[in-house]
Amino acid sequence: MLDGRNIILGISGGIAAYKAAGWIRDLKREGAEVTVIMTRSATEFIAPLTCSALSGNRVHRDMFAREAAHEIPHINLAANADLIIIAPATANTIARLAHGMADDLLCAVVLAARCPVIVCPAMNDKMYRHPATRDNLATIGSRGTIVVDPGEGSLACRGNGPGRLPEFVEVREFVLAALSNQDLAGVKIMVTAGPTVEPLDQVRFLGNRATGRMGYAIAATARRRGADVTLISGPTSLAPPTGVNIVNVSTALEMRHAVMAGINEAEVVVKAAAVSDFRPAVSVDGKIKKAASGLDLQLTANPDILMELGRIKGKAEKPLLIGFAAEAGEKLGEGQRKLKEKNCDMMVVNNISDPDAGFAGESNRVVILYRNGGEERLPLLKKDEVADRIWDRIVRLRRRE
Ligand SMILES: Cc1cc2nc3c(=O)[nH]c(=O)nc-3n(C[C@H](O)[C@H](O)[C@H](O)COP(=O)(O)O)c2cc1C
Repeated sequence: MLDGRNIILGISGGIAAYKAAGWIRDLKREGAEVTVIMTRSATEFIAPLTCSALSGNRVHRDMFAREAAHEIPHINLAANADLIIIAPATANTIARLAHGMADDLLCAVVLAARCPVIVCPAMNDKMYRHPATRDNLATIGSRGTIVVDPGEGSLACRGNGPGRLPEFVEVREFVLAALSNQDLAGVKIMVTAGPTVEPLDQVRFLGNRATGRMGYAIAATARRRGADVTLISGPTSLAPPTGVNIVNVSTALEMRHAVMAGINEAEVVVKAAAVSDFRPAVSVDGKIKKAASGLDLQLTANPDILMELGRIKGKAEKPLLIGFAAEAGEKLGEGQRKLKEKNCDMMVVNNISDPDAGFAGESNRVVILYRNGGEERLPLLKKDEVADRIWDRIVRLRRRE
């Protein structure tokens, strides 16, 4: 996700500096070019050699490094950065950023840079809660610096409370959002995801193989692009994406209820959930007893939520309706029929018989169908990338391009 991005990792002198070494690897694994700047205190905690070996680049520490004097290091580093992350950020470094100081390389680079800056405070809980630190964090936050709240728990200084440097995975969404085009800023988006489960009795249910990954990727990428996202999710094993308002449901009827409750506000609705077409006609209280003769199940049709949304929308422009159609085999005609019948603006068709695509995997291969009969075939991509491409198309539809 970070291919070709130039990221400066600023490490200041806190006990969590050792964790920053792991962050270098995490950023590199995502494809970023990582340049490390260390404060003098940081070098008391970890060796610059570790950071240069892991990043594959020279570590910058000195504003007045002789060998680089002709380059004016702080200006060059600032100009080339797509993002600066300071982790851990000490109370001291935060105070100096708040006052616009430029007496060490890291603070001077931040002052000279125009790219986004993410600050990850890590310190003793009393230092973190001190009004001076609170004020300094509020000051840098008010200027647009992204401040990531520290984790809570037992701290290396034997304190207990807020101050722990999070793991990189907890900060990853901030990084992706900081580097994303904010072309959905403030747009109210509803996404449905996951399967629905329809109870037969208190133990058993009728379900399907949807994992929710595609819908969760749709929600996470929209959030990264600045949208205000509500994710209505059937049961999944996935962690809710950072910053998304999640509504958990179980059955198709509950999903319909949640969708209808939020529909008036939504500007875009993406229906990626695999809603069960049927539910057992009766759900038994307790447990259906085993019977040698077998069991006949009577099923009732569930409401078609997308069809209902299409009817409510009528000829109105809002909300934009995007449907997903999972078909066994490449049935684009079936997708076109659904697009028209359900009054959608776009239909994303995926072939669940394709071993690379479908429910459980990390990747998907989809065809996007448009109202004007147009179709667009996307290559095999990671689900996050498929989601980003779908948002690119939705942004264009919103601009009527
Ligand atoms: C063992 C030890 C651990 C420290 N841990 C932290 C810490 O986690 N967070 C912090 O803000 N300061 C911590 N400090 C204090 C900073 O190292 C000190 O404020 C230093 O001036 C920070 O410099 P810098 O911000 O330029 O890196 C620690 C100091 C020592 C001796």
